[in-house]
Amino acid sequence: MRAIRIYEFGGPEVLKYEDIPEPQPGPGEVRIRVIAAGVNPMDWKIRSGMVGEMPLPMTMGLDVAGVVDMGQGEVSFQPGEEVFAKVSIGQGGYAEYTVVNSAQVARKPKSIGFIESAAIPTAGLAAWQSLFDIAGLGKGQSVLVHGAAGGVGIFAVQFAKWKGAYVFGTASEKNEQFLKSIGADEFINYKKQRFEDVVGKVDVVLDTIGGDTFERSWGVLKPGGFLVSTVARIPEGVPDKYGVRAQTLMTRSDGEELAQIAALIDEQPVKPVVTTVLPLSEAKKAHEMSESRHTRGKIVLRVAEDPQ
Ligand SMILES: NC(=O)c1ccc[n+]([C@@H]2O[C@H](COP(=O)([O-])OP(=O)(O)OC[C@H]3O[C@@H](n4cnc5c(N)ncnc54)[C@H](OP(=O)(O)O)[C@@H]3O)[C@@H](O)[C@H]2O)c1
Repeated sequence: MRAIRIYEFGGPEVLKYEDIPEPQPGPGEVRIRVIAAGVNPMDWKIRSGMVGEMPLPMTMGLDVAGVVDMGQGEVSFQPGEEVFAKVSIGQGGYAEYTVVNSAQVARKPKSIGFIESAAIPTAGLAAWQSLFDIAGLGKGQSVLVHGAAGGVGIFAVQFAKWKGAYVFGTASEKNEQFLKSIGADEFINYKKQRFEDVVGKVDVVLDTIGGDTFERSWGVLKPGGFLVSTVARIPEGVPDKYGVRAQTLMTRSDGEELAQIAALIDEQPVKPVVTTVLPLSEAKKAHEMSESRHTRGKIVLRVAEDPQ
């Protein structure tokens, strides 16, 4: 099968498009014939070695949508079912076939195709787990989403709005109308405005940016509020100093939560936003785009023709 692999850590040039044997499922795993693979910043962080040493060679990619091809042992899916999943690091989503534990898989949303479904797993789970599992965001509360036009941010804005929260979103000027169209109540142009001057105090901050943005976020939380960061470590003692709670997200791969997200996408005006689709062979270009840190929504690799 065709796959994108790395034999060493480094720049986008270490991505190799090549033929490798198809993986075989182990007990409790299903094999998915991949139609589309989502691209995440985590992919190029792994590729560059930022995430640390890992066994090589490695097939890249974490997010897939496709069709179940076979399973082994007790699995919850039959061959032919249309699914999506966040696979474990090294299992390889940028490939014609991948294997994944059945508990990490869900039936894909019926109302969208494989390309859009592949845009969901990591970013959708990150937003869901940050807002609901960790921060407990509820109806009538307020949330500030930093990086609202990014992969995680677009889901966070839509999930928070669906929950009945008041949503502030930061991005640059070009994303103002877009963010309002997906449900942001107030847009903050981080290049021209300080978010502290706009939001007053909020119940939850979701930080996907880090650095100065993360550090300035403590001051905009209500007492007892929650700061979740997808990127920054929480310095010891600081949450107590501000009388707030804080946590760094570690996204779990969870088929049940993916099924909840799929239901929301089918029943509500919550949708993935895919701005770039490239063939699998152009993973290098996809990484270069993602590394710019200024893409809107998601980049997806087309691995095979949509069977529908
Ligand atoms: N811990 C975890 O489990 C976990 C899970 C998922 C993601 N993450 C991490 O979370 C981060 C975000 O992921 P992602 O997929 O959302 O990334 P992304 O799609 O690459 O984010 C790009 C977006 O960031 C915005 N942006 C850049 N600088 C900004 C700033 N200073 N203020 C506000 N927005 C800014 C850009 O908007 P403009 O173009 O308008 O500037 C762009 O829309 C990544 O570092 C990723 O690795 C961690």
